[in-house]
Amino acid sequence: MPEMKLGLFVRPTGHHIASWRHPNAHIDANVNFDRYIDMAKTAERGLFDMMFSADTNTAWTTVDSALNRQHYTAWIEPYTLMCALTPHTKHIGLVCTRSTSFDQPYSIARMFASLDIVSGGRSGVNIVTTGNGRSALNYSQDAHLAKPDRYEIADEFVDVLIGLWDSWDADAFVQDRETSTFFEWDKMHTLNHKGKHFQVEGPLNVARSPQGRPVIVQAGASEQGRELAAKSADVIFGASQSIEIAQEFYADIKKRLARFGRQPGDLKVLPGLSVTVAPTMEEAQAKFDELQELIHPDHGLAFLSRRLGHDVTGMDPDVPMPDLEAVDDVGTRSGQMLDLAKREKWTLRQLYQHFAAARGHMLLIGTPEMVVDTMQEWFENGACDGFNIIPSMFPDEFESFVDLVVPELQARGLYRTEYEGTTLRDRLELPVPESQYAKAKASAAE
Ligand SMILES: Cc1cc2nc3c(=O)[nH]c(=O)nc-3n(C[C@H](O)[C@H](O)[C@H](O)COP(=O)(O)O)c2cc1C
Repeated sequence: MPEMKLGLFVRPTGHHIASWRHPNAHIDANVNFDRYIDMAKTAERGLFDMMFSADTNTAWTTVDSALNRQHYTAWIEPYTLMCALTPHTKHIGLVCTRSTSFDQPYSIARMFASLDIVSGGRSGVNIVTTGNGRSALNYSQDAHLAKPDRYEIADEFVDVLIGLWDSWDADAFVQDRETSTFFEWDKMHTLNHKGKHFQVEGPLNVARSPQGRPVIVQAGASEQGRELAAKSADVIFGASQSIEIAQEFYADIKKRLARFGRQPGDLKVLPGLSVTVAPTMEEAQAKFDELQELIHPDHGLAFLSRRLGHDVTGMDPDVPMPDLEAVDDVGTRSGQMLDLAKREKWTLRQLYQHFAAARGHMLLIGTPEMVVDTMQEWFENGACDGFNIIPSMFPDEFESFVDLVVPELQARGLYRTEYEGTTLRDRLELPVPESQYAKAKASAAE
């Protein structure tokens, strides 16, 4: 039976927008690296496949008027964080986000191949085009490019990345002292990429890394996001509000793979999941309600405004949800949120409370048995290959997950009881990719 894959989505004090106001939250996590070591150690205790950090390229992460209510404004840069965590961890995959709108593929290829070497095959990069348009203003641009243009760049970016990671055959460095031959010429491959957006000579000045190439993650759910993932990604993060939405997404993604000559197992689908768990339902609900009470209405309305792409700040939170159109440029979740609000006949407060906890990801509150019932239902019915766990608050909610949910998953045979293999690819049961040059050589020999 296949095993469920689990990722930990880290965020300084937690994913609930009011997490930092809770008395137990690690309120200093923005500047205290020890808090991340603590998260990583708990994640390894829970035998997680990987930990993942998102990224923004601006401090302006919500509507300006509510920015001072937000903990996610100034924090440690994620790639630095993942490198620093390497010696403190042994097993867990170290994955973080880089933007194809502001980075260069040569730099990203070097950084993640190097992290793969120093971590013994545990690195991964989440490729995003960056939804927050304000980021462009920090990168000498007047405005963010439109989403189709950003995805066009992302597509070429990932091709270059993969091309560069194939620069060296694994056995290129013969290091023959006798003949003074450090590497063999025919095992070095110069990319010479000349595309619309990038010109990259190559080869990469980093050797082939332990995983063949670092794991590529993608997190967009639009048509272009799905295509990019199907073509090149190893993992796709999702955000689905129900098993039906998750099943549609899962089937669609897996179906696309064949067009790119890939097998269904080559791309793992991990929707986000927020869990509030306790030995009894009453305790779990009380923990959840406690965090909900801490949301300042200005912050809740600001959060909604950014996620919906419509300014609802200053409105009465207790009036019914106004009739608004989905804004595609802010992402696929805008439409999903509006549909849900309409279906449930929610007020603005009810909508922001629902999304404040998990930002549009699936939300479960209950006992370990109740939580695992749903996780099992999704896993066994074509909705996912595992989950990207998004704890509402660190450290409490993540520790509860590891202490209560993981043993229940194991008892049902859904999850590993010890780490297998050594690399992130081993754990995710992903094939080691063959270099394009090795592939060409093999087919020429046939
Ligand atoms: C789990 C998860 C993590 C994400 N991490 C980031 C991130 O770190 N930075 C970012 O700009 N966007 C991030 N996104 C947003 C997506 O990359 C994408 O930009 C967004 O979903 C809009 O694209 P779409 O319309 O293709 O869905 C994340 C999305 C998900 C589901």
